[in-house]
Amino acid sequence: MRTLVILGSTGSVGTQALEVVRRNPDRFRVVGLSAGTNHELLIGQIREFVPPYVAIADEQAAADLREKLTNIRDVEILVGPDAAETLARDLEADLVLNALVGASGLAPTLAALQSGKTLALANKESLVIGGELVMDLIKGEPERLVPVDSEHAGLAQLLRGERKEDVKRVILTGSGGPFRGWSRNELARASVKEALAHPVWQMGPKITIDSATLMNKGLEVIEAHYLFGLDYSQIHVVIHPEGIVHALVEFRDGTILAQLATADMRLPIQLALAWPERLPTGIEPVPIADKKLTFESVDREAFPAIDLAYRVGQLGLTFPAVMSAANEVAVMAFLEGKIPLTRIVEVVQTVVDEHEAPSTVVSVVNLERADAWARRRAAEIIEAG
Ligand SMILES: NC(=O)c1ccc[n+]([C@@H]2O[C@H](COP(=O)([O-])OP(=O)(O)OC[C@H]3O[C@@H](n4cnc5c(N)ncnc54)[C@H](OP(=O)(O)O)[C@@H]3O)[C@@H](O)[C@H]2O)c1
Repeated sequence: MRTLVILGSTGSVGTQALEVVRRNPDRFRVVGLSAGTNHELLIGQIREFVPPYVAIADEQAAADLREKLTNIRDVEILVGPDAAETLARDLEADLVLNALVGASGLAPTLAALQSGKTLALANKESLVIGGELVMDLIKGEPERLVPVDSEHAGLAQLLRGERKEDVKRVILTGSGGPFRGWSRNELARASVKEALAHPVWQMGPKITIDSATLMNKGLEVIEAHYLFGLDYSQIHVVIHPEGIVHALVEFRDGTILAQLATADMRLPIQLALAWPERLPTGIEPVPIADKKLTFESVDREAFPAIDLAYRVGQLGLTFPAVMSAANEVAVMAFLEGKIPLTRIVEVVQTVVDEHEAPSTVVSVVNLERADAWARRRAAEIIEAG
């Protein structure tokens, strides 16, 4: 029996994690849940999983939650922007699943690892922003950080038992999102509705837009760099529209291993929660004989986010934090209809180009400062039109 804290339980990954728990009641027990604002869904989750602690970021949502929870005893409610971090640090639990979105995930990631817990990480932004700090906390015990992202879960499986010196390069696949094959001019006219219609995955709005610009793949390149200790020259990206092969590893003898699975996030989520064990999922395996697998290169001109992420990753320091923060602001502006899709990466690029990173070692304070500056600057650039 593993005790779990699920941060972001009301989101796409969070709800699917609870499906995994529901299916395996003898393996997992939820001791903490956290949400941002969605108290309605959280109430249902509290009734079903009866965790002793819940965290909710929004004050008004917390008040509504309290009002409706009168007949449930023994649930302590933590409120405020730091509540998820408190859960991650203070609760006794075997594993924390961080399924928050954006920079809000960094503090809980650090808190979970600092308090000695194992972290199943869906919140890729926390690794992009604070990769060095995060990896420092698990030095000598890499098994305490388990990836949830499907490509990185694929790599973790492919690399199990392999010697690092035998790995020549890894290849992350991406479906290409809803705009595969579109030119830059066409992309400039893409609507929010079109951008939210991902052909393979059902996900939260931020990662869906990141998948439309391919910024998501860029973030994943940086994520892979930290998780697997790979040089950026060893990390490649290829478009694979069918979304069946999630990752490949090429070894120095010329062998390539691929990880294939039905595109269903419950698979990598369950593997992360039970790692290193595999449990039955009830998910149909890929019907190999009926499927074509195709691969193509990324159109780097139409999707400049990939090259930007490589550059930012190589620069290191506070540059990835700046890219990630500016991207969050620009994605929100696109969702609100303030800027066209192609403007997202242009805004991020401008903010990155203007950034003057501190020459000192990266610290939480430096990262927070860079994050705040990047958000302000991105907002100004968007406002200026
Ligand atoms: N969805 C996928 O299939 C998928 C796949 C791979 C990786 N990921 C990664 O997993 C993470 C989560 O993605 P998602 O698609 O599940 O996102 P999502 O559906 O938008 O869910 C985000 C969760 O975080 C909570 N939240 C948002 N802002 C918060 C804040 N400031 N404080 C506390 N809680 C906050 C939300 O709460 P409320 O809803 O209550 O406001 C919700 O529970 C992202 O980093 C994403 O890149 C997702």
